[in-house]
Amino acid sequence: MRRLILALTLLLPSMAFAASGGLERLSADNDIMDKASLQAGAKLFVNYCMGCHSAQYVRFQRIGKDLGLSEEELKQNLMFSAEKVGETMTIAMDNDDAERWFGVMPPDLSVIARARGTDWLYTYMLTFYLDPSRPMGVNNLVFKDVGMPHVLWERQGWQKPVYKTVTDDKGNTHQVVIGVDLVDKTDEAKAKADQYKKDVRDLVNFLEYIGEPAKLERHRLGWKVILFLVIFLGFAYVLKKEYWRDVH
Ligand code: HEC
Repeated sequence: MRRLILALTLLLPSMAFAASGGLERLSADNDIMDKASLQAGAKLFVNYCMGCHSAQYVRFQRIGKDLGLSEEELKQNLMFSAEKVGETMTIAMDNDDAERWFGVMPPDLSVIARARGTDWLYTYMLTFYLDPSRPMGVNNLVFKDVGMPHVLWERQGWQKPVYKTVTDDKGNTHQVVIGVDLVDKTDEAKAKADQYKKDVRDLVNFLEYIGEPAKLERHRLGWKVILFLVIFLGFAYVLKKEYWRDVH
């Protein structure tokens, strides 16, 4: 019974979020053990994201090793500006330019999957919608007034917002965006949008993977600390015995 109560208390914050946000998170359902997906995600990342975002803690070499790509394949498929495989995924964009263009510097994405979670990233990439009032012409369901353009619109097709009318305490009605819908409803457009979901899954998979090495490092360090404590305890015990021998 106590376990049940504990489990329920842990669930509460997420339920509260679901109730207040009103928007359902989509499930990324990605698998970081799937190498083909990671390779596809890496390719999308360097082609479509690295114009603006870096992943400065990630080395090409490491990606090659983990994803099973030779140095040649790395150079041909993933490295456009970098020259040596030992380099990290940095970009040339300058802070001032970025602020002029987007109002904000696009953040480094090395650990974004840990900061936001994979479901959030998946939902984010899938819910850009047309909004003429915004400088980039788009808004986003999970990132209100986002400064990023919908860089993959050609792969997804445009989406328009779905509104719901709500009445506030004072009896005024407002239109709120509760979802998105494809503008083009042809079978061809739908098939394209479905393929885009797969692409985004690969992309999110890659983002989760690049956030992982640091996680692995932390686990490894954790074990070292515990091992140290255990050994230290042994020493402390021997010392204690040594000190007390004369007293007894
Ligand atoms: C043309 C420049 C540009 C490109 C290309 C671009 N982004 Fe962005 N991105 C931005 C900007 C600017 C922001 C900051 C938005 C803000 O804070 O309003 C951003 C924000 C983000 C965020 C949210 C970060 C946060 O604060 O939590 C994610 C995730 C993201 N981008 C992912 C991507 C991915 C994945 C790609 C490649 C498919 C990509 N971006 C391509 C400009 C870009």
